[in-house]
Amino acid sequence: MNTQVKIVGVSGSPRKGATQYCVREALLAATGISGVSTEFIDLRGKEIHPCIHCNQCIKKQVDYCPTFSDDMRAYYEIILHSDGFILGSPVYQMNVTAQIQAFINRLRPLGRYITKGHWATKVGGAIAVGGTRNGGQETTLEALNNFFFCTGMNVVSGGIFAYNGAAVWSNDKKEQGAKEDDEGIDSVRILGRRVALIAKILKVGLVNLTEPIEGAILAGFSNQKELDRKIEKFIHR
Ligand SMILES: Cc1cc2nc3c(=O)[nH]c(=O)nc-3n(C[C@H](O)[C@H](O)[C@H](O)COP(=O)(O)O)c2cc1C
Repeated sequence: MNTQVKIVGVSGSPRKGATQYCVREALLAATGISGVSTEFIDLRGKEIHPCIHCNQCIKKQVDYCPTFSDDMRAYYEIILHSDGFILGSPVYQMNVTAQIQAFINRLRPLGRYITKGHWATKVGGAIAVGGTRNGGQETTLEALNNFFFCTGMNVVSGGIFAYNGAAVWSNDKKEQGAKEDDEGIDSVRILGRRVALIAKILKVGLVNLTEPIEGAILAGFSNQKELDRKIEKFIHR
């Protein structure tokens, strides 16, 4: 049986430029792994309000933000049911864009799946696209990878040519600039393939387990009781 794996790519650029091209290229490379399908999410032109920490998603235990019915609504189902994620952001002041930061923060309703071990079975990889050769791609990759770390997801490194993710120099020339950065585009493709491959290996492993692993153990605890105690301590009533 060929286990099916879905990889989602998100472009955090507000325009049709280098980042959307790079994320699409990573997804294309991912489809080179058998059984992999992809979906592209373009944040360009989307209305995504920043999280206001009202905690309504947590109080109501819903899988979406009940406070803002903006464009974010369409993404919760897709994210929850995918196996691997590629987050791509332009470098803005050596960091991620406001668009992708809002997107990441607004995923808070799905945070409750951390303790179910859900994200521990998923894979993430990052792409940063700067206008300058060394303009903060690595700090941007760190910011994106930190999101994956917070969820307990397995962060995929690109290895020797894409260490902590794919770093691209667009030279401020949008798609054409990215295409001219051979090294950067190689790192994008390596990352896309690695995310897909590791997601597939993980899923095949999980599907073929003779004894299912309970969520608390996937989340790193020795049993459900230990996790419950931790949650009890963390929740302020
Ligand atoms: C507000 C702003 C801040 C930026 N800051 C940086 C930066 O710190 N380092 C850098 O290399 N490029 C910086 N850039 C340039 C973009 O990262 C670069 O042009 C990138 O390729 C844009 O991606 P896009 O074509 O997908 O929109 C900045 C651009 C803007 C608009």
